[in-house]
Amino acid sequence: MNKKLRIAVTGGGGQLGNELRFLAPHFPDWEFFFFTKVEWDIAIESLNEEQVMKFKPDAVINAAAYTNVERAEDDSENALISNGLAPGYLARACKKHGALLIHISTDYVFDGEKRAPYSENDEVHPLNAYGESKLAGERAVDSVSNRYFILRTSWLYGTFGHNFYKTMKRLGLEKGQLSVVNDQIASPTYSRFLAQDILELIRLKLIEHKPIECGLYHYTQTGEASWFDFANEIIRVNNISASVEPVSSERFPTKAKRPHYSKLSTDRWMHNTGIALRSWQEGVQQCAADEHQTG
Ligand SMILES: NC(=O)c1ccc[n+]([C@@H]2O[C@H](COP(=O)([O-])OP(=O)(O)OC[C@H]3O[C@@H](n4cnc5c(N)ncnc54)[C@H](OP(=O)(O)O)[C@@H]3O)[C@@H](O)[C@H]2O)c1
Repeated sequence: MNKKLRIAVTGGGGQLGNELRFLAPHFPDWEFFFFTKVEWDIAIESLNEEQVMKFKPDAVINAAAYTNVERAEDDSENALISNGLAPGYLARACKKHGALLIHISTDYVFDGEKRAPYSENDEVHPLNAYGESKLAGERAVDSVSNRYFILRTSWLYGTFGHNFYKTMKRLGLEKGQLSVVNDQIASPTYSRFLAQDILELIRLKLIEHKPIECGLYHYTQTGEASWFDFANEIIRVNNISASVEPVSSERFPTKAKRPHYSKLSTDRWMHNTGIALRSWQEGVQQCAADEHQTG
């Protein structure tokens, strides 16, 4: 086959979108089309069909989402439009034109009461409006198509955009003392590893034609950490001289409730795709190394 694989990325201005943009030059035989919200607002139903028809992608990676968990509590209608309805519009357009859809969801579909790693079959029960809206998006995709991968991930961070990794680094340098909650546990996930593995999944599925079953998958780094553990590792890896104090989440009341435990089991991903996952600590180390490289 000498036709280039065509990949469209929505949410191209966000954290994950920018990681995919960064990786695109490493795939000279593929053709990438990136769209910011202004260029392709997935909440405008007809635009999904128009853009898919125009660019004829073999796969669409939906990195677009309303991701402000706190704001979503007071703005649940808009969160639901972008996260709950729009993925369904996109899935319908992909289905009509034969494109594979890769959609990203969240650990916040769970309430954390299980206290053991959540599998794809576990009962969902979001505690906040963001989680509700993302769950609605999963259901919208599933109701119109079966040629999709939904990857639920958690605690994304990386070299682009605003995220916990960058905030801890900045505050560690500025203040030398941090108080971080130690009663919420999940797996920090490096967005560049996620981006690399999404592209590997597409390669295996569309180029190698491996019989990887479509559907819902949990994708995170291995191991689990509290925000306190995560902050400590960020400070350590970056050689910042700051102390980190563990505190209860009651010290920092937030509008949105968050699960105390939302570690996702990645067994299905590992078994079906064979794509190895690295540890969350390796993610932090790699992020620091990548930051130094890109300045
Ligand atoms: N960040 C996390 O910790 C985390 C954890 C679990 C799952 N996820 C999921 O991972 C995915 C990627 O997240 P991220 O961290 O890369 O998010 P991000 O940095 O906030 O990027 C999301 C991008 O989507 C854009 N967007 C919002 N509504 C849109 C719409 N209707 N049409 C097109 N674009 C729209 C945003 O533009 P504006 O900024 O202009 O609105 C932003 O550029 C999302 O599905 C998110 O729900 C994230």
